[in-house]
Amino acid sequence: MNVRPERDFNVDELLDLYASVGWTSYTGSPDVLTKAIANSSFVVAARDQGGTLIGLARGLSDDASVFYLQDIIVRPEHQRHGIGRQLLTACLERYRHVRQKVLLTDDDESQRLFYESFGYVRTVDFEDAPLNAYVRFDS
Ligand SMILES: CC(C)(COP(=O)(O)OP(=O)(O)OC[C@H]1O[C@@H](n2cnc3c(N)ncnc32)[C@H](O)[C@@H]1OP(=O)(O)O)[C@@H](O)C(=O)NCCC(=O)NCCS
Repeated sequence: MNVRPERDFNVDELLDLYASVGWTSYTGSPDVLTKAIANSSFVVAARDQGGTLIGLARGLSDDASVFYLQDIIVRPEHQRHGIGRQLLTACLERYRHVRQKVLLTDDDESQRLFYESFGYVRTVDFEDAPLNAYVRFDS
Protein backbone atom coordinates (compact mmCIF):
# COMPACT_ATOMS: atom_id res chain seq x y z
CA MET A 1 0.00 0.00 0.00
CA ASN A 2 1.28 3.46 -0.77
CA VAL A 3 -0.07 6.90 0.08
CA ARG A 4 0.95 9.87 -2.00
CA PRO A 5 -0.38 13.05 -3.62
CA GLU A 6 -2.04 12.42 -6.98
CA ARG A 7 -3.69 14.50 -9.68
CA ASP A 8 -4.73 12.17 -12.48
CA PHE A 9 -7.52 9.75 -11.74
CA ASN A 10 -9.71 7.57 -13.86
CA VAL A 11 -13.33 8.67 -13.28
CA ASP A 12 -14.45 5.04 -12.92
CA GLU A 13 -12.05 4.37 -10.07
CA LEU A 14 -13.25 7.54 -8.34
CA LEU A 15 -16.89 6.54 -8.78
CA ASP A 16 -16.13 3.06 -7.47
CA LEU A 17 -14.38 4.43 -4.38
CA TYR A 18 -17.09 6.99 -3.58
CA ALA A 19 -19.81 4.37 -4.20
CA SER A 20 -18.11 1.98 -1.76
CA VAL A 21 -19.03 4.32 1.11
CA GLY A 22 -22.44 5.25 -0.36
CA TRP A 23 -21.71 8.86 -1.26
CA THR A 24 -24.43 9.13 -3.87
CA SER A 25 -24.37 12.92 -4.03
CA TYR A 26 -21.06 12.52 -5.85
CA THR A 27 -21.64 9.28 -7.71
CA GLY A 28 -24.88 10.64 -9.18
CA SER A 29 -22.91 13.44 -10.86
CA PRO A 30 -19.65 12.12 -12.34
CA ASP A 31 -18.90 15.49 -13.97
CA VAL A 32 -19.15 17.25 -10.61
CA LEU A 33 -16.91 14.64 -8.98
CA THR A 34 -14.28 14.94 -11.73
CA LYS A 35 -14.28 18.74 -11.50
CA ALA A 36 -14.21 18.67 -7.69
CA ILE A 37 -11.12 16.45 -7.69
CA ALA A 38 -9.39 18.45 -10.42
CA ASN A 39 -9.98 21.77 -8.66
CA SER A 40 -9.04 20.61 -5.16
CA SER A 41 -5.96 22.23 -3.66
CA PHE A 42 -4.56 18.90 -2.51
CA VAL A 43 -5.48 15.30 -3.20
CA VAL A 44 -3.76 12.31 -1.62
CA ALA A 45 -4.50 8.75 -2.67
CA ALA A 46 -3.94 5.32 -1.14
CA ARG A 47 -3.41 2.43 -3.52
CA ASP A 48 -2.82 -1.24 -2.88
CA GLN A 49 0.10 -3.17 -4.37
CA GLY A 50 -1.87 -3.79 -7.55
CA GLY A 51 -2.59 -0.09 -7.99
CA THR A 52 -6.25 -0.21 -6.98
CA LEU A 53 -7.51 3.01 -5.41
CA ILE A 54 -8.50 2.13 -1.82
CA GLY A 55 -8.57 5.56 -0.22
CA LEU A 56 -8.47 9.26 -0.92
CA ALA A 57 -8.46 12.57 0.92
CA ARG A 58 -8.84 15.99 -0.60
CA GLY A 59 -9.03 19.52 0.64
CA LEU A 60 -9.20 23.19 -0.25
CA SER A 61 -6.81 25.84 0.98
CA ASP A 62 -5.46 29.32 0.36
CA ASP A 63 -2.09 27.85 1.44
CA ALA A 64 -1.81 30.59 4.05
CA SER A 65 -4.63 30.83 6.59
CA VAL A 66 -7.10 27.96 6.21
CA PHE A 67 -7.35 24.32 5.13
CA TYR A 68 -10.74 22.71 4.63
CA LEU A 69 -10.75 18.93 4.58
CA GLN A 70 -13.55 18.11 2.15
CA ASP A 71 -13.45 14.32 1.64
CA ILE A 72 -11.67 11.45 3.28
CA ILE A 73 -12.63 7.95 2.24
CA VAL A 74 -11.26 4.47 2.83
CA ARG A 75 -12.94 1.48 1.20
CA PRO A 76 -14.92 -0.37 3.90
CA GLU A 77 -12.88 -3.58 3.60
CA HIS A 78 -9.70 -1.58 4.29
CA GLN A 79 -10.97 0.53 7.19
CA ARG A 80 -9.41 0.40 10.67
CA HIS A 81 -5.98 -0.44 9.26
CA GLY A 82 -4.51 3.03 9.64
CA ILE A 83 -5.06 4.17 6.05
CA GLY A 84 -7.36 7.06 7.01
CA ARG A 85 -4.75 8.13 9.52
CA GLN A 86 -2.07 8.16 6.81
CA LEU A 87 -4.28 10.14 4.43
CA LEU A 88 -5.17 12.80 6.98
CA THR A 89 -1.58 12.96 8.24
CA ALA A 90 -0.45 13.71 4.68
CA CYS A 91 -2.95 16.58 4.47
CA LEU A 92 -1.98 18.00 7.84
CA GLU A 93 1.71 17.80 6.98
CA ARG A 94 1.15 19.54 3.65
CA TYR A 95 -0.68 22.37 5.45
CA ARG A 96 1.26 22.38 8.72
CA HIS A 97 1.98 26.11 8.26
CA VAL A 98 -1.76 26.85 8.16
CA ARG A 99 -3.36 27.69 11.52
CA GLN A 100 -7.05 27.07 10.89
CA LYS A 101 -8.15 23.59 9.89
CA VAL A 102 -11.86 22.90 9.52
CA LEU A 103 -14.22 20.24 8.23
CA LEU A 104 -17.89 19.36 8.12
CA THR A 105 -18.99 15.78 8.68
CA ASP A 106 -21.81 13.53 9.85
CA ASP A 107 -22.78 13.48 13.51
CA ASP A 108 -21.34 10.03 14.02
CA GLU A 109 -19.41 8.68 16.99
CA SER A 110 -16.72 6.90 14.94
CA GLN A 111 -16.10 10.10 12.95
CA ARG A 112 -15.82 12.09 16.15
CA LEU A 113 -13.26 9.61 17.53
CA PHE A 114 -11.32 9.67 14.27
CA TYR A 115 -11.07 13.48 14.07
CA GLU A 116 -10.51 13.97 17.77
CA SER A 117 -7.56 11.58 17.56
CA PHE A 118 -5.99 14.27 15.30
CA GLY A 119 -6.80 17.16 17.64
CA TYR A 120 -9.93 18.40 15.85
CA VAL A 121 -12.56 19.66 18.30
CA ARG A 122 -16.30 19.98 17.61
CA THR A 123 -17.30 23.65 17.70
CA VAL A 124 -19.80 22.87 20.50
CA ASP A 125 -16.94 21.50 22.61
CA PHE A 126 -14.48 24.30 21.84
CA GLU A 127 -13.58 25.95 25.14
CA ASP A 128 -11.29 28.84 24.19
CA ALA A 129 -14.16 30.93 22.73
CA PRO A 130 -17.82 30.36 21.78
CA LEU A 131 -17.94 29.06 18.19
CA ASN A 132 -20.66 28.10 15.73
CA ALA A 133 -20.31 26.43 12.35
CA TYR A 134 -22.77 27.48 9.62
CA VAL A 135 -23.58 25.66 6.42
CA ARG A 136 -25.98 26.17 3.52
CA PHE A 137 -26.78 23.55 0.90
CA ASP A 138 -28.23 24.67 -2.43
CA SER A 139 -29.69 22.00 -4.69
C1 LIG B 1 -13.41 7.97 8.52
C2 LIG B 1 -12.49 7.01 7.75
C3 LIG B 1 -11.83 7.75 6.59
C4 LIG B 1 -11.40 6.48 8.71
O1 LIG B 1 -10.48 5.71 7.95
P1 LIG B 1 -9.78 4.41 8.58
O2 LIG B 1 -8.72 3.97 7.64
O3 LIG B 1 -10.80 3.40 8.93
O4 LIG B 1 -9.16 5.03 9.92
P2 LIG B 1 -7.87 4.53 10.72
O5 LIG B 1 -7.79 3.04 10.68
O6 LIG B 1 -6.69 5.27 10.20
O7 LIG B 1 -8.24 5.01 12.19
C5 LIG B 1 -7.54 6.04 12.84
C6 LIG B 1 -8.16 6.26 14.21
O8 LIG B 1 -9.44 6.87 14.11
C7 LIG B 1 -10.33 6.30 15.11
N1 LIG B 1 -11.37 5.55 14.39
C8 LIG B 1 -11.48 5.36 13.06
N2 LIG B 1 -12.60 4.66 12.77
C9 LIG B 1 -13.20 4.40 13.93
C10 LIG B 1 -14.39 3.70 14.29
N3 LIG B 1 -15.20 3.13 13.37
N4 LIG B 1 -14.70 3.61 15.59
C11 LIG B 1 -13.90 4.16 16.53
N5 LIG B 1 -12.75 4.83 16.25
C12 LIG B 1 -12.42 4.95 14.99
C13 LIG B 1 -9.47 5.43 15.96
O9 LIG B 1 -8.91 6.22 16.98
C14 LIG B 1 -8.41 4.98 14.98
O10 LIG B 1 -7.22 4.56 15.59
P3 LIG B 1 -7.10 2.99 16.08
O11 LIG B 1 -7.57 2.13 14.94
O12 LIG B 1 -5.64 2.87 16.38
O13 LIG B 1 -8.00 2.88 17.26
C15 LIG B 1 -13.29 5.77 7.24
O14 LIG B 1 -14.00 5.20 8.32
C16 LIG B 1 -14.25 6.07 6.10
O15 LIG B 1 -13.86 6.08 4.93
N6 LIG B 1 -15.55 6.28 6.41
C17 LIG B 1 -16.55 6.48 5.37
C18 LIG B 1 -16.40 7.83 4.69
C19 LIG B 1 -16.56 8.94 5.68
O16 LIG B 1 -17.55 9.03 6.39
N7 LIG B 1 -15.56 9.86 5.72
C20 LIG B 1 -15.52 10.98 6.65
C21 LIG B 1 -16.38 12.11 6.26
S1 LIG B 1 -15.52 13.33 5.31
